[in-house]
Amino acid sequence: MSTIIPAVKKRADYRQPDFLIDHVDLEFTLIETTTKVICISKVTRNGSHNKPLILDGEGIQLSSVCINGTEAADYQQTDTSLTIDIDTDTFELRIESIINPKDNSSLEGLYLQAGAYCTQCEAEGFRKITYFLDRPDVLATYDVKIIADKVNFPFLLSNGNKVDSGDLSDGKHWIKWSDPFKKPCYLFALVAGDFDLLEDKFVTQSGRTIALELFVDKGMLGRGQHALDSLKKAMKWDETEFGLEYDLDIYMIVAVDFFNMGAMENKGLNVFNSKFVLADAQTATDEDYFNIEAVIAHEYFHNWTGNRVTCRDWFQLSLKEGLTVFRDQQFSADMSSPIVNRIQNVKVIRERQFAEDASAMSHPIRPDEVIEMNNFYTVTVYDKGSEVIRMLFTLLSKTGFLAGIKLYFKRFDGQAVTCDDFVQAMEDANDKDLSQFRRWYSQSGTPQIVVTDTYDAISKIYRIAFEQKHIATFEQKEKQNLVIPIQFSLLNDKLESLNLGDTDQQQLTLELNETQQCLEFYNVESKPIPSLLHGFSAPVKVDYPYTQQQLGNVMLGSPDEFARWDAGQQLFSNCIHNLAGKTELQQTTSIAETIAMFEPIIESKDISLALKAEILTLPSFETLFQQLDTVNIDALNQSRKQLFKALAQTFQANWLSHYSAFEKQPYAYQSQQVEQRKMQNLALKYLTLSAQPDVEQLLTQQFNNADNMTDSLGVLGAAQLGDLDLFERLMLAFEQKWHADPLVLDKWFALHANTDRSDILARISILMGHSRFTINNPNRVRALIGTFCFFNVAGFHNIDGTGYKFVADYLIKLNEVNPQIAARIITPLIQWQKVDKTRQQLMQLQLMRIGDTKGLSKDLFEKISKSLP
Ligand code: PHE
Ligand code: ZN
Repeated sequence: MSTIIPAVKKRADYRQPDFLIDHVDLEFTLIETTTKVICISKVTRNGSHNKPLILDGEGIQLSSVCINGTEAADYQQTDTSLTIDIDTDTFELRIESIINPKDNSSLEGLYLQAGAYCTQCEAEGFRKITYFLDRPDVLATYDVKIIADKVNFPFLLSNGNKVDSGDLSDGKHWIKWSDPFKKPCYLFALVAGDFDLLEDKFVTQSGRTIALELFVDKGMLGRGQHALDSLKKAMKWDETEFGLEYDLDIYMIVAVDFFNMGAMENKGLNVFNSKFVLADAQTATDEDYFNIEAVIAHEYFHNWTGNRVTCRDWFQLSLKEGLTVFRDQQFSADMSSPIVNRIQNVKVIRERQFAEDASAMSHPIRPDEVIEMNNFYTVTVYDKGSEVIRMLFTLLSKTGFLAGIKLYFKRFDGQAVTCDDFVQAMEDANDKDLSQFRRWYSQSGTPQIVVTDTYDAISKIYRIAFEQKHIATFEQKEKQNLVIPIQFSLLNDKLESLNLGDTDQQQLTLELNETQQCLEFYNVESKPIPSLLHGFSAPVKVDYPYTQQQLGNVMLGSPDEFARWDAGQQLFSNCIHNLAGKTELQQTTSIAETIAMFEPIIESKDISLALKAEILTLPSFETLFQQLDTVNIDALNQSRKQLFKALAQTFQANWLSHYSAFEKQPYAYQSQQVEQRKMQNLALKYLTLSAQPDVEQLLTQQFNNADNMTDSLGVLGAAQLGDLDLFERLMLAFEQKWHADPLVLDKWFALHANTDRSDILARISILMGHSRFTINNPNRVRALIGTFCFFNVAGFHNIDGTGYKFVADYLIKLNEVNPQIAARIITPLIQWQKVDKTRQQLMQLQLMRIGDTKGLSKDLFEKISKSLP
């Protein structure tokens, strides 16, 4: 491993800042490699002490430091700081410096890409722009003046309201912005470039008119409408559901092609990865439409949960992210199918969050130790964080939860606070003791709920016991009991739900807070089947010794749609896990028995098409992987394919009728159509796998007639799955058609990266030389390299080690260009804990190689050093 060991920051070490800055005047003169930044801060000493002012800064060329108008000399610089000795308590600090946006490939701080200047400051990027107190508990108002060439950069944007502008003699112009709301510097943003502008308005519940402005690349105006519509829906929803209204008079969104993440909630000026803005029928799938609506809403909701009330320090990240993900999930559920939406959320937890908890990067939703903050924008902080909020919602009821939210804003508006402050507000508003519940914030790992039951036919008593078990995680050995809400019901053998308790209530919520709790039910006529964890009421694994028959009953009879889906998934999972090592006859029988249980589902009328499609979709490889303690990769992959194929063949006639059931309408992103396309494209996959005689014709027909991207990709996905030669021909046609459209080509890169062929590495190498591929663009890298790592099981985990080596070679290069993306893509390589010894060694070998890289980033260092044994 590299020799300089980066420092570990600890949550417990939090101290208030020694100085506060309550107003900032920034002036930017934008020049490619020598942008001038003048930062004038109003500084006050915080408390009585005589410590120096220590500012953060990275890669900045300092020109001058002035205090109260006089040039200062008493300062020291390091690579990451500027220390100023000063005894005044209140002063004006003027720092002038030069930065280089053109050569900034990290996409953090101020960068120039594709002809536009853009900033990204969360978490600690502001320190790459100017020396500053780069921490979220320093809140200031900002006035920003931007100066740039008028022809190339007609739009000069920053947070807040535009207050002044003017032309200069040398072809430059300037615009001045003022943001009246105090904010931490991570919410600062600047964008300069030439765009097409889509404008609209929103009238708030109190009657204020907000100007909405969406900036997209020239020529992309036609793809902006869905994003703008989504924004208006989100604004309305937050008013009706949470009573929260927008505060500034203008809301701007800029779509850029070079962006490390999905989007960023900068005050009044969101910056988005263009992938989460641009959509039309031809280029975007139903899933893209869905994601755009969700991400637009997410960033909008941050205006209250994140911006008005922000985080005291970065360990508290889930304060804003967990809560905002919860809010965007509730919004999406209201906009589309709640059950399908919930299933998608749960897949993220089971496929990725459980994996994180089982890995060397495990951490609680509020981490205790961090080397590189960028490594903690995780599924744990975000998605498990959201599940924790959801449990509060369940435990307190919607009314109680909303009362807590109201108190939270009343207490903390305009402040930087902690997760504990949030829980305290919930506690106080509901008069409920949440001290044990708080452990969800400090404890990592996936709890296991072991459920056992007994039935006594003579006394007619049914007893069901719930036990919580916690296993040690990498960073935390000691575990405590949590408060776990478990929603469940009981089914009799006629698949009716039993009344539980005095009323006709059929679902109970058990608050499991002890190691084991037992419930008794009287006058139960026959042994019931429990339907457990309705709606995925907690982020846990449930262990109950179901027979396949019982699971079949839950799938058909549970009053909870989530539990029905989940039972079906367990049926499939059990079947897959039990195939290995069986004789062929045993395999055939077990597969046939499992599939037969789905017969009542495939033509049933009591569930929506969308839910049906979900039930009939096999659990992903990643989900199956997380169900086991040790995984035989090849066997698991093989068994899953075997069941997939059998499902295709057994129901061939049904797939055909599902495929042909709907009349084509002109594309609209509208729920009935979305459901139909989902079912049709699933059926097409199965038809292809079943080797339906005329399937090539069906595929070609759909490909040629498609008026939308969902249907085109449906064909490519099916042809890829079926390993048809047609796949290559269609891919070629697709590339020719979409050559000039990077966002569409990403789908094409990803399909290539996911093909299950022995020449996969050669294929990817060729694509790396494609004229549209560049290591500088995170979307391209994610599509090609990321897809290979995360999803191409056979290629990545090839037992000859070539997949791992290929990825390591790439990450060594990417480390220099964009450490943040490199550290994301390394994730599958550090998750070696469950695979066989041979693969473990091969993976570790590559981790060591990357670890030895000269100039290894903190991002990769943290993940590699934690994951090497
Ligand atoms: N705060 C952003 C969000 O979740 C994510 C983000 C983090 C974007 C860091 C860029 C950099 O909405
Ligand atoms: Zn967020």
